[in-house]
Amino acid sequence: MTTVDLLDGLLEATVVGSFSRIGPVVRRRLYDWEVPAADLSGREAVVTGSSSGIGREIATRLAALGAHVWVTSRSEDRAEEAAAQVAQDSGGTTTGVAVDVGELDQVRAFADRLRTATDSVDLLVHNAGALTEDRRETSQGMEATLAAHLVGPYLLTRLLADHLAADARVLFMSSGGMYTQPLVVSRLEMDEDDYRGAVAYARAKRGQVVLAEQLAREWGPTPVVHAMHPGWAATPGVTAGLPVFDRVMGPILRPAAEAADTMVWLATADEAARTSGEFWHDRRRRGTAYLPRTSTTDRQRRRLVPWLDARIAQAETHADTQAEAHAETDQA
Ligand SMILES: NC(=O)c1ccc[n+]([C@@H]2O[C@H](COP(=O)([O-])OP(=O)(O)OC[C@H]3O[C@@H](n4cnc5c(N)ncnc54)[C@H](OP(=O)(O)O)[C@@H]3O)[C@@H](O)[C@H]2O)c1
Repeated sequence: MTTVDLLDGLLEATVVGSFSRIGPVVRRRLYDWEVPAADLSGREAVVTGSSSGIGREIATRLAALGAHVWVTSRSEDRAEEAAAQVAQDSGGTTTGVAVDVGELDQVRAFADRLRTATDSVDLLVHNAGALTEDRRETSQGMEATLAAHLVGPYLLTRLLADHLAADARVLFMSSGGMYTQPLVVSRLEMDEDDYRGAVAYARAKRGQVVLAEQLAREWGPTPVVHAMHPGWAATPGVTAGLPVFDRVMGPILRPAAEAADTMVWLATADEAARTSGEFWHDRRRRGTAYLPRTSTTDRQRRRLVPWLDARIAQAETHADTQAEAHAETDQA
């Protein structure tokens, strides 16, 4: 182990030092932290949840490197406004699209649009997400935190799989919160009785990390797929979802640009394309479990993708049945 590895490992073990704004300050001095010099001209980059916070920073930096960026929000107005702002700030080109990534019919429509409007997709950045205390369901009857972080992104990835460029990268914005939860597939979707927003969020974020590993096993070296966590960043999402944490930790939260850095690096650096299915933070590979009880068993890992396929089929059947019932009521 080198001195750099040792110091970086010690910083990671402190958690607060690693996740907060201290992390990049120290790591910049420890190892190479050049601004990626990639030329993304002619490339198509999709950054979900890019109307705000970390996603907007990622979109701006990818557009500045020459990519045409698809900027998304749940709201048409916010998508248009953010796309215009990202284009202005970067000097690049963007398209704003309204899509709720937890709503499967909207995900399908978005995939259709991307397939029609582009020759291929080069970068698919699954960044959209939120921590919400209240349990909500999507229009297909799925718990909304799970739907937005895991089921919808999985569906979008599958729908675009044969439309990805040969050297495409598919990247998931997970969270350090995932370290608190193991993947137990039968407990991914929390019901009314046991729902706690932070737990549902952590389980879905754990699911993203395992999904990246499983897609890499299925796909081999390309398309490259990775997950990362951004540390703790000052964003509108943290202010709304974790107000006490935001108030107490505010002074040491990272600026959103520092939280976006590793995603831009994963999208552009040669090193990030040499492997697939890894978990990253501050431009370095990280372990996926701090505690043995949160390690993923092979059995749970293998269950994830079949479970996602089955859950999508069930949700869409539920929606079809509802629509048919409404149509019959209207006719009666
Ligand atoms: N900030 C942190 O410390 C931190 C830590 C760990 C992980 N993360 C992750 O980083 C990502 C970005 O978070 P942020 O802190 O930058 O929050 P943010 O400022 O609230 O941005 C979240 C973005 O996601 C979009 N979004 C939320 N739910 C969506 C849905 N169902 N469908 C489509 N878009 C949706 C929002 O768009 P609209 O509201 O305009 O629809 C917004 O553009 C999230 O995945 C979050 O879990 C953040």
